Amino acid sequence: MTQAQTHIVDSSRYAQCIAASKQVRWDIERDVIRGRRFDYGKKFLPDGLSKVNELPFLNEAERRFVSQIQGRTYANMFGLVERFICAKVLEVSREHFLGDQVALEALVRFSDEELKHQELFRRLELLAGEQMPAGYRFLPQPNDVAQVVLGKSTWAVLALTLHIELFTLVHYRESIEPDEHLSELWKDVFLFHWKEESQHAVMDELEWVREDRKLSAAERDQAVNDLIELVVAVDGILQAQAKHDAEYFVANCDRAFSREELDVLRQTMLKAYRWQYIVSGVQVPRFGKVLTDLITPAQGERIGAALATIM
Ligand SMILES: [Fe+2]
Ligand SMILES: [Fe+2]
Repeated sequence: MTQAQTHIVDSSRYAQCIAASKQVRWDIERDVIRGRRFDYGKKFLPDGLSKVNELPFLNEAERRFVSQIQGRTYANMFGLVERFICAKVLEVSREHFLGDQVALEALVRFSDEELKHQELFRRLELLAGEQMPAGYRFLPQPNDVAQVVLGKSTWAVLALTLHIELFTLVHYRESIEPDEHLSELWKDVFLFHWKEESQHAVMDELEWVREDRKLSAAERDQAVNDLIELVVAVDGILQAQAKHDAEYFVANCDRAFSREELDVLRQTMLKAYRWQYIVSGVQVPRFGKVLTDLITPAQGERIGAALATIM
């Protein structure tokens, strides 16, 4: 493929993203928070994502508390990944600096939105901190994680990003939106987030495929290794946070649990986080389709083998 061919950009797809982005554009305070606080009489994360139904020894209030802890971590996880996503999007936008100005505008809007989302999730963490018991900590540091992620090939980072942004959409549409028992503020946050993320997922795919066309077979093979390393790194973060969140839950329940119950609690917390941040995204058909179109069957098997240890 010639240099010129690698730079062909489908402007119309980016133009659609700009139009949609302008139409849904929202403001953190005016549209989302509107002076509200979280209703702690209600759940944050829906049961299908939090896996609380696999904790039969918890009463209703305790299950609600689990969903609120996980919901707090859920918001923080987005704030975390948006740090490297924004940096990577700005980095790939460089290739459009003196090229397609529509693509450039779409990616600038994308990164602007991710900066706003990070601010939104910081606001939510402050709100949660005011109302929830002391002792919660979100362990991973956004810049430390971004340093590791951005050290991997762009192909792998864009693959991880598409995966994340697709599961964001699926979680909202299939689990959060239909659940009538969630905190209104928490639910609205992910409604507004979903509106802007819909365009991001389109651009992730466009940029990932564009990046793929520049790679040799050997570079792509290394990029597949990078993607596997990124998934393993995500899992490491999930293991640490799941352990912390289970301990925070137990520390703030006014009763004791058996050793067996504590084991189930810890395992279910990790299972829920793996489902939320890895497995549910891998199962989004669009992600599987794009990935398999780019890799060889042998590379697919390598990724499958790595995932098998998590799933
Ligand atoms: Fe976002
Ligand atoms: Fe996004």
